[in-house]
Amino acid sequence: MNADLEKLTKDEKIRLFNGVGNWNSFDAGGRLPSFTMSDGPHGLRKQDAVQETEAYADINRSRLATCFPTSSCMAASWDKALLSEEGKSIAEEAQCQEVDLVLGPGTNIKRSPLCGRNFEYFSEDPYLAGTLAASYINGMQALGIGTSLKHFTCNNQEKRRQTSNSIVDEKTLSEIYLRPFEIAVRKAQPASIMVSYNKVNGEYAAASKFLLTEVLRKKWGFKGMVISDWGACIGAANCLKAGMSLAMPDSNGYFSHQLSAVYDEDSVLRDKLDEANSLVVEAAKKWNGGHRQKADNSKIDFVAHHKAALRFATSSAVLLKNDGALPLAPKTKLAVIGGLAATMKFQGGGSSHINAAEYPSALESLKALGYEIDYAEGYPTDLGNVSEKGYAQALELAKKAASEKVPLLFFCGLTEEFEGEGFDRETIALPQVQTKLLDQILETGAEVIAVTFSGAPIDIYFADKVRAVLHMYLCGEACGEACAQLLSGNVNPSGKLAETFPFSEKDTPCYGNFGGEDDNIEYKEGCLVGYRYYEAKKIPVRYEFGFGLSYTTFEYSNLEVDAAARRVSFDIKNTGTVKGAEAAQVYIQRAGAEYPELRGFEKVELEPGETKRVSVELDENAFKSYDTSAHNFVPLVGTYKVMAASSVKKIQLEKEVEVSEGDLAGQAADAYSPDVTLYNDFFTNTFYEQHHRGTFTTADNLGDMAKESFAVRMILRFIIRAMLSTMKGKSKDDPSVKIAISAIEENPLESLISITNGVLSEKRMQGILRLANGKHK
Ligand code: BGC
Repeated sequence: MNADLEKLTKDEKIRLFNGVGNWNSFDAGGRLPSFTMSDGPHGLRKQDAVQETEAYADINRSRLATCFPTSSCMAASWDKALLSEEGKSIAEEAQCQEVDLVLGPGTNIKRSPLCGRNFEYFSEDPYLAGTLAASYINGMQALGIGTSLKHFTCNNQEKRRQTSNSIVDEKTLSEIYLRPFEIAVRKAQPASIMVSYNKVNGEYAAASKFLLTEVLRKKWGFKGMVISDWGACIGAANCLKAGMSLAMPDSNGYFSHQLSAVYDEDSVLRDKLDEANSLVVEAAKKWNGGHRQKADNSKIDFVAHHKAALRFATSSAVLLKNDGALPLAPKTKLAVIGGLAATMKFQGGGSSHINAAEYPSALESLKALGYEIDYAEGYPTDLGNVSEKGYAQALELAKKAASEKVPLLFFCGLTEEFEGEGFDRETIALPQVQTKLLDQILETGAEVIAVTFSGAPIDIYFADKVRAVLHMYLCGEACGEACAQLLSGNVNPSGKLAETFPFSEKDTPCYGNFGGEDDNIEYKEGCLVGYRYYEAKKIPVRYEFGFGLSYTTFEYSNLEVDAAARRVSFDIKNTGTVKGAEAAQVYIQRAGAEYPELRGFEKVELEPGETKRVSVELDENAFKSYDTSAHNFVPLVGTYKVMAASSVKKIQLEKEVEVSEGDLAGQAADAYSPDVTLYNDFFTNTFYEQHHRGTFTTADNLGDMAKESFAVRMILRFIIRAMLSTMKGKSKDDPSVKIAISAIEENPLESLISITNGVLSEKRMQGILRLANGKHK
């Protein structure tokens, strides 16, 4: 046993399984090293003690920090070095803010464009998502700050995320949903993995021995801690035995009570507790390694980080259409319409919300470059109503721009209430107040350039009617300056979509099977997620995976494939007149397979006329497939089409190669002897029985209980009202309010003990449960 643990009493050992407050591990009265966590992923949400006690009331209160572009935006850079630099920059702030471990990155697969939290994730493709996550982790951990890779796993929707049950077959789970986590674990060994709230195949991920021990530790060789998402530990003994190391946040004695009751007679639990405790203490030593002494938040170089945030944003924004209207001629007259030009939308709502100090608007930034601007707000960006006068002014401006032939920039996108943690969208459409205005503007004959903001696909239905579309994503605090730099051509756009933009949500693979009231969600589309689906089923899309334009052009030539070395090389030439960067992609399709798969990518920067030889390292699984009888990825000989491409549809070069056993000699599957019983149980134990009056347990939520019990309805109403009263008049549509309400309605009863900071005691919880199960409606 770890020497530090020998000095602990039984109670202290048990206590070490649970965090202290919202963000700390237990230090046994100073006898153990401990660590402090803080939310990421695209900046630090470090809360002071006062802010912490109000944590649930207002997650938007935190210390100033740099807000970097969100992950969905960073992924569009297709630039591993940039992700590593983002990790490093956030680590530099963590070092000055007494934070040892940052809760990020998130690498869940985007099963549907409607998931409210997609902006915090990278891609619909597992290789891209896993590789970028690994770069971020390596960048951050190189500076001695740990990470927490989240949310493991199949947390692909926000609706009822605390109790929903993702039903997934073995091949789909392994090839699509686990794969980004696997890549990141193997390439970067994150300090911790955050296990998600939801169930997978009928059991809570947090209590799944299959996921936390068999897959994570035994199969992938994960060495760090497993931390519960905040309030995801349902049944402390089961979670501990499954492989959880630390339950967060503080349960105010509840977990200790549960574990003490069984500790003496359960030797398996005692052993697992020793393992968990050792991992927590090791982590505290490793990640609290000295930087604490230097902590001083006045040392954060916000100026340098703001510049980095700007560079990240300009490398990630995606030019979706351009008929030559961009870049704008320098210092000319412009008409600008849309509240989002003045009030920037640069991040989403929820636990990733960053309190940024400086976020100049696009309007100011364009003016600073010498543009002469006439501006009309047109629609509001807060939750206010549209004013008829505002609309009329915008239309007047559009008419004037049309008659004077002045370019009209229309800024639009998802405002606050549409994107955030704890809720999903219902449609990919833009808010009606914006589309109604845009349609009228288009009728004036003005030459419109659309600048769009969202962390996930939106319906660019106006693509054929406007001259250009620049999609900024949610690109961090330097968003406004990034718009100006890209529109003016000072920087050449080089982002490409890391996800498909469909024509409609109705075209998406899981349409009708996503975000419903039923907790059981069958992943019926299997591996056909994102472009895999659209390519296999030949469904047209608005903008395909990997798509993005530039102010220059590129030519690919001389493709070479070395299957044994898992390497593909080719030349790229910048054939235009300005400097630019190209995100080159390699797709591979085995003969007979329904769809190509991304197996490598590299971003290269080229001066006009310059040619570079690009050498792309391929995914370890480039010539493998998941075999459900071996429960592993196994190499497959055969004919493969290897493609160098500028998007999944724009194949530039291709070659058919015969991959032989000799080629695959060095690519054997890892030695792994699966616990077949665990596999069988996990993939047959699928549907979850929803409970009703009489059978509710503490793993059910207040929302469901309230539907069947008048008394619980009253209690729920009271709790929500009490919570709202601490939120200083915020509207119910405010994302920080939405997330708090959804947590109270949808978190299992047991989880409310931790997340309400002890307001709900164990005794009260049992009382509510009795009421919920009582006879009276
Ligand atoms: C979120 C996590 C976050 C945690 C702590 C949870 O609700 O799902 O991503 O790290 O809260 O704020």
